[in-house]
Amino acid sequence: MAHKITLTAARRGELLAAARAVRLNSYSPYSNYKVGAALLAASGKIYVGANFENAAYGAGTCAERVALGAALAAGEREFVAVCVCGADNTVSPCGICRQALSEFGDMTVLCIGAEGSTAANALRELKLSALLPESFGPANLA
Ligand code: THU
Repeated sequence: MAHKITLTAARRGELLAAARAVRLNSYSPYSNYKVGAALLAASGKIYVGANFENAAYGAGTCAERVALGAALAAGEREFVAVCVCGADNTVSPCGICRQALSEFGDMTVLCIGAEGSTAANALRELKLSALLPESFGPANLA
């Protein structure tokens, strides 16, 4: 189904700013690796998440799945893009997050560095299908 909205320059700017801002709320005292994620839904709304860690390490969750959970709980089911912000733009969604996001289609993935992280905060743009080729999804269960 065609998206109601597109990733305009203005929306892209909002998405990047939202991911950078929410990254500051990351609770990551064990890895000290702060991540923020902002998910643009087909409704035009942006949902954010930050990674949170736990003294029982396995209980932590990535920023992308926090944002996805917030969006799903708000009733969203279609997404245009997700922006992931790390300390620099080498950040990349983990395998579990790629799978979790791919349930909802082949969205655009934007990876950026935090504000002020010098040359390494340039934008990397990919499609989720390039990050997770030949994936298992809802069609496999049809
Ligand atoms: N992390 C994310 O939140 N998103 C990513 O794309 C990569 C990794 C988190 C998980 C953990 O809290 C920390 O970064 C180090 O792996």
